[in-house]
Amino acid sequence: MTDSHEIRRLVLVGFMASGKSTVGPLLARRLEWEFIDVDGEVASREGASVAEIFRTRGEAYFREAERRVAASILQRDRVVVGSGGGWGASARRLGQLPVGTVTVWLKVSAEEAVRRASSTREVRPVLEGGEPLDTARRLLKRREEEYAAAAVGVDTDGRTPEDVVEEIMETVRDMSPELAGGRNAREA
Ligand code: S3P
Repeated sequence: MTDSHEIRRLVLVGFMASGKSTVGPLLARRLEWEFIDVDGEVASREGASVAEIFRTRGEAYFREAERRVAASILQRDRVVVGSGGGWGASARRLGQLPVGTVTVWLKVSAEEAVRRASSTREVRPVLEGGEPLDTARRLLKRREEEYAAAAVGVDTDGRTPEDVVEEIMETVRDMSPELAGGRNAREA
């Protein structure tokens, strides 16, 4: 968080299919802020889907593009940012974000993540090539310690996106009362 307690942006982190790109736009609407999806920005700048970038240019290339795009998005104010599942798991990254950034970890179990991922057509490259549940369990275990550095943690298993948004709104209002009621400190 920031010393001045002014929240300038919220960054959703968490495992794949934790709901970052579903919860993010709803949250942005409540705050009257903009939602920006890091993976979407990477894909549009590269002119290829994330799965294609992994396949044709490799994971290291994708991670560097993701790092650069996210760093530029984090210069903006009044934005809700949906990050990719690997971004928030990078070592100590969540402790080094610009002032005014509040990180929100959307928690999901490996079982629920795989269930949700298999019900969409989106290809998740990091789950390819093995037994998805084993891979998800292993990855999640390794990543949880980094996600846990987020300022706020919210459970998502078995909950609706609206319910998750409500909990996040309550928490951020406690942190920064001027965000109350979907308005914000625009004139403050
Ligand atoms: C990844 C998650 C994906 C995407 C890429 C890598 C990961 O984003 O960034 O496929 O390493 O967990 P979602 O979390 O939106 O699926």
